[in-house]
Amino acid sequence: MSDTDTRAGTTAVTDTDDKPLLKVEGLVKHFPIKKGLLQRQTGAVKAVDGIDFEVRRGETLGVVGESGCGKSTMGRLITRLLEPSGGKVEFDGTDITHLDTGGMRPFRRDIQMIFQDPYGSLNPRHTIGSIVSAPFRLQNVEPEGGVKKEVQRLLELVGLSPEHYNRYPHEFSGGQRQRIGIARALALKPRMVVADEPVSALDVSIQAQVVNLMDDLQDELGLTYVIIAHDLSVVRHVSDRIAVMYLGKIVELADGAELYKAPMHPYTKALLSAVPIPDPKRRHQKSERILLKGDVPSPIAPPSGCRFHTRCWKATEICKTTEPPLLEVRPGRQVACHHPENAEDQAPQDTVLLTAAKEAAELVPEASATASAKTEPAGTAESSGTVESVAQAEPVEKTEPVEKAEAAAKAKVAEKTEPVEKTEPAEKAEAAEKTEPVEKAKVAEKTEPVEKAEAAAKAEAAEKTEPAAKAEAAEKAEAPESDGK
Ligand SMILES: Nc1ncnc2c1ncn2[C@@H]1O[C@H](COP(=O)(O)OP(=O)(O)O)[C@@H](O)[C@H]1O
Ligand code: SF4
Ligand SMILES: [Mg+2]
Repeated sequence: MSDTDTRAGTTAVTDTDDKPLLKVEGLVKHFPIKKGLLQRQTGAVKAVDGIDFEVRRGETLGVVGESGCGKSTMGRLITRLLEPSGGKVEFDGTDITHLDTGGMRPFRRDIQMIFQDPYGSLNPRHTIGSIVSAPFRLQNVEPEGGVKKEVQRLLELVGLSPEHYNRYPHEFSGGQRQRIGIARALALKPRMVVADEPVSALDVSIQAQVVNLMDDLQDELGLTYVIIAHDLSVVRHVSDRIAVMYLGKIVELADGAELYKAPMHPYTKALLSAVPIPDPKRRHQKSERILLKGDVPSPIAPPSGCRFHTRCWKATEICKTTEPPLLEVRPGRQVACHHPENAEDQAPQDTVLLTAAKEAAELVPEASATASAKTEPAGTAESSGTVESVAQAEPVEKTEPVEKAEAAAKAKVAEKTEPVEKTEPAEKAEAAEKTEPVEKAKVAEKTEPVEKAEAAAKAEAAEKTEPAAKAEAAEKAEAPESDGK
């Protein structure tokens, strides 16, 4: 332990500068697909395919989209757990896109990630004290008053007891484990925290608690958040702005309240249809909702033109041929659509719907919506935030999106248990990282963070066909960690 942590203590670090804390330009991540003995590249998974956005100091940017849209990849790119294939990532004015291990070292303290799975992300063999203090060891930081005292302070900060220091992860519930993960992420007083579906794996009843805890900590510590979710209900109350992702692209970016009031992108509207409403009185209103049919197409060969055209009920010929750019249609409001909702049509001459669009359009009768609302579990109220309910849409091209979306919410949202994640390499990669994401990243940073993250990802991807590779990859992922101890 060498340098003293100058930021240790209780004072919050608040970013005041007007410039954005994070600036992303044309960010791309293509995972190569290799086949055969010679491992020739035969294609690429276009997980993130050219996105631009900024994260302002002190704000919460929510990022939503169905499973497989590239949200986690985006999170790993901006935290530099993955090396971008193209584009630029600027943190606080410094280009960190291709910084090597040494170059990234100072930023590792400033940028932290909270992972989805509170069960897999804490090493079961380590005590809570050892897990939360790992960032200090890895960064050679000696906080004021010593590591143990600081860790106990952090445990209290996240609503746990300092006495939990010597306990093991299995002694805690999912919600408590996620609190431990949050304590670990906050240990080095980061400036930006990227939380990848932080409450998706938690029981509905405690999701709100954890989200509220994160919200309180933001005010207290002057944090900037990027919160990833596959459902709008989780990010709705905490996000200042929301970016909606579809197949590796941002399709809408807007102020949170504005987005809810009047979604402009048909996909956003569909996602909103999946958000349940909390008011039981309104559950009996007539409803029309948008039902998104089918799964997200493969990012290996995304649809031409607008990537959403195969599932959009408004799609016309131009949607198939020409990709709509992300345009600022109103101040602070960006949308990528030829025929946006609640805004001037960008291609008014193009009026003939594609066949697929006609098929996509479906009005769910009120009776069935009400019937399914009855079976909806109490916990799906938006206050507690149901995250498992992903848009399985159903469309109406009317102009009162709010009423529609809200009324729609009373219908039971088809639950989709993320089958994509089970079969796709991304999640395998995630599994590798889940063993001890932060600690691993920290250790890796000493050697080769990006390569390791990538290597683990690749090895895990290979696991699909060769189970033996899985154990090996997991071992590799664990190895440096034990070295570091
Ligand atoms: N390491 C990887 N190798 C190959 N493909 C990957 C890898 N990581 C992610 N992908 C693919 O990229 C796409 C986006 O994945 P991901 O970022 O995990 O989406 P989301 O978090 O929105 O569910 C998926 O199709 C996934 O299979
Ligand atoms: S209307 Fe066309 S451009 Fe807009 S989301 Fe639908 S398919 Fe894409
Ligand atoms: Mg994900």
